[in-house]
Amino acid sequence: MKGKILVTGGTGYIGSHTVVELQESGYEVVIVDNLSNSRADVVDYIGQITGTRPAFEQADCRDLDALDEIFARHGQIDAIIHFAASKAVGESVQKPLLYYRNNIVSLLNLLELMPRYGVKGIVFSSSCTVYGQPDVLPVTEAAPIKKAESPYGNTKQINEEIIQDTVRSGTPISAVLLRYFNPIGAHPSALIGELPNGVPMNLVPFITQTAIGIRPQLSVFGDDYGTPDGSCIRDYINVVDLAKAHVFAISRMLEGKQAEQVEVFNIGTGRGLSVLELIHAFEAATGVKLNYRIAPRRAGDIEQVWADPRKANDVLGWKATTGIEDTLRSAWNWQLKLRERGIQ
Ligand code: UD1
Repeated sequence: MKGKILVTGGTGYIGSHTVVELQESGYEVVIVDNLSNSRADVVDYIGQITGTRPAFEQADCRDLDALDEIFARHGQIDAIIHFAASKAVGESVQKPLLYYRNNIVSLLNLLELMPRYGVKGIVFSSSCTVYGQPDVLPVTEAAPIKKAESPYGNTKQINEEIIQDTVRSGTPISAVLLRYFNPIGAHPSALIGELPNGVPMNLVPFITQTAIGIRPQLSVFGDDYGTPDGSCIRDYINVVDLAKAHVFAISRMLEGKQAEQVEVFNIGTGRGLSVLELIHAFEAATGVKLNYRIAPRRAGDIEQVWADPRKANDVLGWKATTGIEDTLRSAWNWQLKLRERGIQ
């Protein structure tokens, strides 16, 4: 066993894929999740994929006493990967206090308990949203942090600062902040994937739900942006590739190889794709025609952003390797599996 990792939000979309990669690399995992946006059977599916059912604790990270009891009971936890958070940009505008309480109190609780239980480090799920609309593309980790467009985005910025301040204060922990670009796709087994709650806000779940007939039509939000085809550009990263980045971060941390106590990495492919390009790649990958129309711009959208991932490539030793068509096929297979299971 390489070490024991506590994964908050471990039954969620990125969390579940990361638990699989951690276990397949020889780590022991304890999942903490309140199941507010995920299902308990994900733990069984992780067991089916890896042959090991991870420990699972249904608890809310806002609950300090519950977390304290979990740390006390599970013995030496070597590191934490903190995914548990609310993540819907639009909802965060409607319910800011929910977002601030959930996303910030959870981190405060973990940081308070880490030194008490000798936990060495934390990998934090951050987002490219901290860059806003970058002045220079591709965006590097050195780009300025822009004022957040939403309470959700603000919680990511504030959490990065809370971690920086805590480490600076002399607390004996280290941290890796991973700034994700746009994670898409599902595990190739189609046993785990993204489970959107209600009408999907994100592009790929909306595409697959339209393709399967749950939604009549996909709206492309704007074709008058200053991009070659007028639609927005993003860096779509395969979720299994993204999950693997966490394993690289954890081993770097536990082997004491970090150059600084807080390290920041962009986790993206380095390639930007427009909404229209993504739609056409989906059609090419699956042979399914999509019913879509051009609709007005969506408030708060950034025109274009893609990563410069060279720091993650060179320093972390991680690189995104899965092609976009394989990734979109995996998203489609997952949608087909959900229908088979009668979920969506
Ligand atoms: C945003 C945030 C990201 C956050 C994520 C969570 C930014 C840059 N990114 O991602 O940090 O983690 O939300 O939800 O702030 N689109 C359509 N039709 C649709 C849905 C989306 O055209 O039905 C377009 C959007 O306008 C956008 C692209 O598809 O151009 C991707 O949208 P989405 O999947 O929602 O992700 P972001 O908004 O990039």
